[in-house]
Amino acid sequence: MFSTLLRSLGEKRVCTMASRTEINGSGLKALDAKRESCSQTKTLHIARPEKGKTLADFQNIYNSIAEKMKSESAYDDGTGYGPVLVRLSWHSSATYDKNDNSGGSYGGTFRFKKEASDVLSKGLENATKFLDPIHSEYPWLSHGDLYTLGGVTALQELGGPKTPWRPGRVDTGPETVPAHGRLPIPEGNASYVRNYYDRFGFNDQEVVALLGAHILGKTHLKNSGYDGPWDDDTNIFSNEFFGNLLERKWTLEKNAASNMQYNAKGGIMMLPTDYALVQDPKYLKYVKKYADDQDAFFSDFRDIYVKLLERGISFDDSIEPLVFKTLKEQLK
Ligand code: HEM
Repeated sequence: MFSTLLRSLGEKRVCTMASRTEINGSGLKALDAKRESCSQTKTLHIARPEKGKTLADFQNIYNSIAEKMKSESAYDDGTGYGPVLVRLSWHSSATYDKNDNSGGSYGGTFRFKKEASDVLSKGLENATKFLDPIHSEYPWLSHGDLYTLGGVTALQELGGPKTPWRPGRVDTGPETVPAHGRLPIPEGNASYVRNYYDRFGFNDQEVVALLGAHILGKTHLKNSGYDGPWDDDTNIFSNEFFGNLLERKWTLEKNAASNMQYNAKGGIMMLPTDYALVQDPKYLKYVKKYADDQDAFFSDFRDIYVKLLERGISFDDSIEPLVFKTLKEQLK
């Protein structure tokens, strides 16, 4: 009964004992914690999937996004919308803080200017504009579900791993938008990166796998003040990010916006936070592993990406992960 009550409330603030560091599970546990004296406040995000919708309904949304990607493939000099959709799924989840369980993908708050106007999110208006008509077509879908499903669709359509996805995020109001300052800056070294991802509870192996997403798309001077792609193929998901890190000769240079970036022959680049992965021995071990073994990378990337998109959300056991067919698979 308690958990039904909490589910009907969606997002809720609860007081917890200082010794409790995480609330993962049921509403019962949370209520139990509430009865005890309060020294810390946590946000509970209970998944409430859109009522009566089945795998077929979500596969329809997947298909609409994938078809739109195909018909608008000229975007960004032929890169298409896939990479920017993956980046949107990341930024809409990247506000998560394990300390109070705030932020993350749950509330779909990237739809508010207050959040989207973060200077570190420049360029992502292209992704939200791309998805607006999808939301008009499926208005029952929450924005958190839309932004994360957009990323999963793009990843699979660009040749990435099959990525199970669960629905149930619920739109929350502008008061739940976290203050700016939760997105990573590209200038950081390895200890910056490690410390940054500790806020999500991610370990070294997970961080290296996750940053392999930088095989997709490119940096744009007009957005971030960095310039160029990470690879010649900007819209094929692979483990080449790691191969490039290890095999190319990198030179640290100032770009036209006066930012320092690593450049290699052929016009490809790395951000300082990317290059940090070969400068730190603990990270380097995993860079080598993933450069050698694409299957290991695909499987570890899938796991950490799912974890990222679901950070801070409590999913009932009855909410089955959905696995979508790519457009190609549906032609067979
Ligand atoms: C230390 C962490 C990270 C930093 C500092 C960082 C920084 C950046 C920067 C500066 C850009 C260029 C934006 C532009 O100029 O348009 C970018 C693009 C991108 N990022 Fe990250 N990022 C990080 C982590 C991630 C993660 C975890 C993912 C996905 C799981 C991701 C996916 C992408 C993608 C796909 C693009 C290309 C977007 C496009 O082509 O429009 N990034 N990132």
